Amino acid sequence: MIKKLIVANWKSNPDSVGRAIALAKKIDKSAERFKKTEVIIAPPAPFIMSVGSVIKYAKLGAQNVFWGNLGPYTGEVSWRQLQYAKVSYAIAGHSERRRLLGETDGMINKKVLACLKNGLGVILCVGEPKQVRRRGMAAVRIFISNQLTKDLKGIRSLVISYKLLVVAYEPIWAIGSGKPDRPEDTVEIVNFIKEILASRFQILNSRILYGGSVNPQNARSFLSKQEINGALVGGASLKPAEFEKIIKAASA
Ligand code: PGA
Repeated sequence: MIKKLIVANWKSNPDSVGRAIALAKKIDKSAERFKKTEVIIAPPAPFIMSVGSVIKYAKLGAQNVFWGNLGPYTGEVSWRQLQYAKVSYAIAGHSERRRLLGETDGMINKKVLACLKNGLGVILCVGEPKQVRRRGMAAVRIFISNQLTKDLKGIRSLVISYKLLVVAYEPIWAIGSGKPDRPEDTVEIVNFIKEILASRFQILNSRILYGGSVNPQNARSFLSKQEINGALVGGASLKPAEFEKIIKAASA
């Protein structure tokens, strides 16, 4: 059985290293309590190393990654530096970065390739906007298929462990809205993503997560589904008691 994976995406929170450490320690305790679930904490860049130094059971994640190695890339943090900081997985293509920072599929593809070529895990985020979902699930499939084709271009030639690639299905309208997807619809898209990974990229067994307003009340409805291999959690990952319930729901 592949372990379920719960990722804490803190986004631009909290405001101090002290608060980041306190939060990380609590989440690490939950990871110790529920060892059947794999837990990743993705803090903002300035807190990555401090958080890494206080966690034992949870793994370290990054919210972004740059494809270059070392060099003239002002403001960017490279895969090489993340490896130095003992980061296991970097998130790539989060919809907030696509929307607010103009991140394109071409850029995301470079990030994915740089991570995978260098043995750094990557959590690729895909998901459709509301106007696409309104047109129905066939339109969603086309949208997701296009994103995967562009974001994963060239990975077929790499020999990688399935563990290194994680895909998070995050319908944009469900993120931070308090209105999660319907678990049946999520399962349909998760299965579709698995089919594409297998047929187009020859990748089997990679974990596919759901993200978008996951909370302790709805976590079971997603995590009890065998097809859904975990969750990418924003808001609720800043509340340790709530986050522990989500980890627990993944361990059941
Ligand atoms: P949310 O965020 O849980 O606050 O909806 C999820 C995400 O953006 O990854």
